[in-house]
Amino acid sequence: MSSADHDPIAFIDLHAQYRRLKPEIDAALARVLDDGRFVMGPAVAELERALAARAGAAHAVTCASGTDALQIALMAEGIGAGDAVFIPAFTFTATAEVVAVAGATPVFVDVVEESYVIDPADLAARASRVAAAGRLTPRAVIAADLFGQAADYDALAPVAAEHGMLVIADAAQSFGGASGGRPVGALAPVTTTSFYPAKPLGCYGDGGALFTDDAARAARWRSIREHGKGEGKYDIVRIGLNSRMDTLQAAVLLVKLAAFDDEIDARERVAAWYDSDLAGAAGLPERLPARRSTWAQYTIRLPERDPVQAALGAQDIPTAVHYPMPMHLQPAYEAYGDGPGSLPVSERLSRQVLSLPMHADLGEATVARIARAVCDAAG
Ligand SMILES: Cc1ncc(COP(=O)(O)O)c(C=O)c1O
Repeated sequence: MSSADHDPIAFIDLHAQYRRLKPEIDAALARVLDDGRFVMGPAVAELERALAARAGAAHAVTCASGTDALQIALMAEGIGAGDAVFIPAFTFTATAEVVAVAGATPVFVDVVEESYVIDPADLAARASRVAAAGRLTPRAVIAADLFGQAADYDALAPVAAEHGMLVIADAAQSFGGASGGRPVGALAPVTTTSFYPAKPLGCYGDGGALFTDDAARAARWRSIREHGKGEGKYDIVRIGLNSRMDTLQAAVLLVKLAAFDDEIDARERVAAWYDSDLAGAAGLPERLPARRSTWAQYTIRLPERDPVQAALGAQDIPTAVHYPMPMHLQPAYEAYGDGPGSLPVSERLSRQVLSLPMHADLGEATVARIARAVCDAAG
């Protein structure tokens, strides 16, 4: 037996990544501790310049989390009561939460089964219905780039334009990826991301950012993230938040950003091993044309998911279900949806998806062991 047959397997391995980058991260943190500017210190502006360059956007504005980034994006457009914001039913809760917190109405849209991202045809149908009903004004669509792959922004743009809606890319899982040679950050007029530790580019706490080419929009975001400030320190020109990124987190992210392409390349290798080892045994994540995914998750579909997950657990192979319930069936959001059967693909995916271990330090033999366990259990 090789060591890969019995070594413990991590679902994600932040320790291994830290060990690789330790000298640079420790030095960057020490510089902030010595400097003492813990809020809006120099690393924050430096990070914003580096993020904007990486995203192919004119402006990057950091904030305290990916959820706040979405909330700031909605606040900056004045989206609120009487407005409809379209979001995929199959996503992390933050995508829906910010809409409800803004006082707007989340309208759930189904996703494409093989790629997990919002279905432009279903968006078109649901936006037309909302517009025809006349009760709500369609204002925005938030497309969540689930598991690392950008949604189909070329197909979403004309649907959004027809209804006068802003496209917001929730790139919490896809930042660093690309589509048609354009980086995530340049695919929609507004892009948000998260630096939660488990994200492909994660910090050591919470963090987030927004991207745009529109200088006026970026200025509103900067104001909102700092209590709605105007020119002077106590000059408050709009309702805002306290949502600044900590300087320590910016320092960590600057180090990790320099190593980010290696991280994505390694994840891509792991995904390719899974693809070939699992072929025929499970529904594999579809690679949309011309996409570079960040492989935030490697998520397969299994008609009988739960016994396979249990069998893997019995072999100490960690897995996760992203996400076990679509948003429209969650108790907190039921009132916004039309109940079971109304978003069939999202509902099926919630029963069938299984995320396998995914990180840059997974070896080929370990991937083969995981895939063997899936194939055996899926029979
Ligand atoms: C799709 C999606 N949107 C938004 C968020 C919210 O990000 P955060 O946890 O940084 O608030 C996350 C991740 O947690 C996410 O996966």
